[in-house]
Amino acid sequence: MDKKNIWAIGGGKGGVGKSFVAGNLGILLAQKGYKVILADLDLGGANLHTWLGVNSPTKSLSDFIGRETPNISKLLIPTDINGLRLISGAKDGVEIANLKYTQKRRFLSALRKLDADYIVIDLGAGTSYNTVDFFLLADSQLMVVIPEPTSIENAYRFIKNSFFRQIFHSSKSLDLKSVIKPILQKENPYNITTPKDLINYLNKLGGSTTVFIEEQLHMFRPKIILNQVRTKRDRRVGAAMKTACSKYFNLDITFLGYISEDESVWKSVLDRKPLALAYPEGQPIRQLKDICSDILLKETEFAGKNKLLSQLTL
Ligand SMILES: Nc1ncnc2c1ncn2[C@@H]1O[C@H](COP(=O)(O)OP(=O)(O)OP(=O)(O)O)[C@@H](O)[C@H]1O
Ligand SMILES: [Mg+2]
Repeated sequence: MDKKNIWAIGGGKGGVGKSFVAGNLGILLAQKGYKVILADLDLGGANLHTWLGVNSPTKSLSDFIGRETPNISKLLIPTDINGLRLISGAKDGVEIANLKYTQKRRFLSALRKLDADYIVIDLGAGTSYNTVDFFLLADSQLMVVIPEPTSIENAYRFIKNSFFRQIFHSSKSLDLKSVIKPILQKENPYNITTPKDLINYLNKLGGSTTVFIEEQLHMFRPKIILNQVRTKRDRRVGAAMKTACSKYFNLDITFLGYISEDESVWKSVLDRKPLALAYPEGQPIRQLKDICSDILLKETEFAGKNKLLSQLTL
C-alpha cells in the first residue's frame, strides 16, 4: 500500500455506537493482518483505552499537536491485540478545543507517516469544527446512525455542516473564497440553506465554479452504518436516508449496512472485552465484518476510478 488509509467514525449524535464500531473495526482490520492504529480523538470523552484494557495514557495529544513537526510515534500505545496500537486523546479537552485547521491537517499528515496500513479515528459526538475537520480529512468518512428521529436529524445536520465546511476549506486554496465566504458566513445574500441550494447556485455561475463543485461532490463521500437495528422497519432507514440525501441535498451518500441491537454489545462493554474478541461469531460482529469488507472494496473501486480519471485527463 503506497498510502495510509484513514477511516474516521463520526455521526453527530452521542451514544449511538461510534466507539463500538471504531474499536471493533480496528480489531477486525488487525485480524486481517493489517498494521492498525486506533486514534481516539473524542477529545474530552476519550475512553477506548479503558475498553482495550490499557492504563490511563501518560502522553497527551496536546503535547504534540501544536508543534511544527510533531513526533506522533511517541504517542503510540501497544495493545494485547496483535497489529493494533492505540493513540489516546484522554486528558485532552479544553486546551485543544480550538485547534486551527492547519494544526489538524498537520496532525493528520503526521499520522499518515506512522508505520501502519490503517488508521481508524473515533470521533466525539456533535458537529464541532474539530470533529467535522477530522472527519473531512479522513479517506473513508463513516457515520454511525441509529434508527431514531433524533439520531437521523443529527446525522443530516452533520452531513450538511461537513459539506459546507469542505466547500469552505477548498475554496480558500482557489479563487472562489470571495464567492463562498459570504454565503457560508453571516451575510448569505441568496438565502442558501441546504447543500442543494449551494450546488445549484455554484452550478449556475458556470465555468470554473461548475468544475469546482463537481470535484467537491466527487470528494465528499460519507458512508452510513445503521446501528442498533431492531425491526424490519428500522432496517429501511439506511436506504431512506440515502434517498433523502439525494433528493433534498443533491448528495450521494453510501449506505453500508446495518448492525442489530444485541445484548452481547453492551455486555462486552461491561466486561471490558471488545466484542470482536468476546463474540467473534455473533451476529453484530458478522454484520460488522461484512461492512468492513465493503469499505475495503469501495476504497479499491474509488482508487481505481481516480486512477482512470487522472489517466483520461492527462
Ligand atoms: N448494536 C448494539 N446493540 C446493543 N447495544 C449497543 C449497540 N451498539 C452500541 N451499543 C451500546 O450503546 C452504548 C454507547 O455505545 P458507544 O460508546 O460506542 O457510543 P458512542 O457513539 O461512541 O458514544 P459517545 O458519543 O458518547 O462517544 C454502549 O453501552 C454500547 O454497548
Ligand atoms: Mg464514543
